[in-house]
Amino acid sequence: MTAISEFKPGLEGVPATLSSVSYVDGQKGILEYRGIGIEQLANQSTFLETSYLLIWGKLPTKDELADFEHEIRYHRRIKYRIRDMMKCFPESGHPMDALQTSAAALGLFYSRRALDNPEYIREAVVRLLAKIPTMVAAFQLMRKGNDPVQPRDDLDYSANFLYMLNEREPDPIAARVFDVCLTLHAEHTINASTFSAMVTASTLTDPYAVVASAVGTLAGPLHGGANEEVLTMLEEIGSVENVGSYVDNLIATKSKIMGFGHRVYKVKDPRATILQQLGEQLFERFGHDEYYEIALELERVVADRLGEKGIYPNVDFYSGLVYRKLNIPSDLFTPIFAIARVSGWLAHWKEQITKNRIFRPTQIYTGSHNETYVPIHERN
Ligand code: ACO
Repeated sequence: MTAISEFKPGLEGVPATLSSVSYVDGQKGILEYRGIGIEQLANQSTFLETSYLLIWGKLPTKDELADFEHEIRYHRRIKYRIRDMMKCFPESGHPMDALQTSAAALGLFYSRRALDNPEYIREAVVRLLAKIPTMVAAFQLMRKGNDPVQPRDDLDYSANFLYMLNEREPDPIAARVFDVCLTLHAEHTINASTFSAMVTASTLTDPYAVVASAVGTLAGPLHGGANEEVLTMLEEIGSVENVGSYVDNLIATKSKIMGFGHRVYKVKDPRATILQQLGEQLFERFGHDEYYEIALELERVVADRLGEKGIYPNVDFYSGLVYRKLNIPSDLFTPIFAIARVSGWLAHWKEQITKNRIFRPTQIYTGSHNETYVPIHERN
């Protein structure tokens, strides 16, 4: 084995796998899923078709897609015992914690089978894609003291989620915009949560544990949690006039501006560009958003002050404004990110287990040696 002694904090630039799931060119602002540009998928595909593409590596035929959608509709309901378990969660708990617990609980109900069994793989993919949105919507209603709404078989994936969340059928444009948001968030190479999924997958544990560990990783403010914080920041800024001083203050105190910067992209994230357009579509249909002008000014000021460092809006910058217009509470933004990213995690899970080697990196030890154990009564 070749010894690699150079330490890369955050494993920056260190390849962790060989993968054909997605590709990012951070200098040119290119994102492709299985070789297809994100703009084409956002404009022409649906989230479920894109999930099929990511997980099975090819676009489905008409029949394959119809079967996949049908299976997912059929598996949307969650067991009463999972609902009962979720009823015991504190209403004040964060929905990401509720989701992580519920996703892990699926593993209690669906027994583990051999990972080389294609039927088991398919079943796990379908169950996770089908049930995660139901669990997110159920927790939202239960924490308000309401009973969860049963999924509706006549509605497609995104329309059904918005229906379960708001207890009414969504406007078709809102449902389509939401579906595009899911497509945009479905996959993004080896980010922190996907890496977490891969590490867990490499122990050959069950797929519910893989998704639960990825949900836990996505929850942090430097990853999926940033979109929630973007809205808090826009609220704090309050008006276009305050943007300049707000940014200067963050720069002076070496604080991060939420929704900006990316380990890979050094230009504007292509997903941010599409999300901004989606936001504009929603504002046209449902009315303007007071925060949008602040966001535009913020983008301009940050580009001016930090553009040369490659700090531009990332995917989280405009997604919060889009979800706000869809009347989604801000602490559900990250669970919605998780609903979408399940398909990327599963694509990497499937890729990992077919050519598995357990992750076991090394370290550079910085401690001491040959210390003496001092009995507790002799210590100062
Ligand atoms: N605001 C201000 N300065 C920034 C920002 C930001 N958002 N992001 C990076 N920088 C600066 C850093 O201060 C640093 O400057 P320096 O070299 O003068 O010290 C330089 O850019 C490099 O920053 P790092 O933190 O080393 O970049 P890294 O690749 O580790 O971080 C990250 C990427 C975590 C996304 C970072 O940009 C960040 O914290 N952004 C805010 C949180 C956020 O929006 N996260 C969502 C990311 S997208 C996603 O996960 C889906």
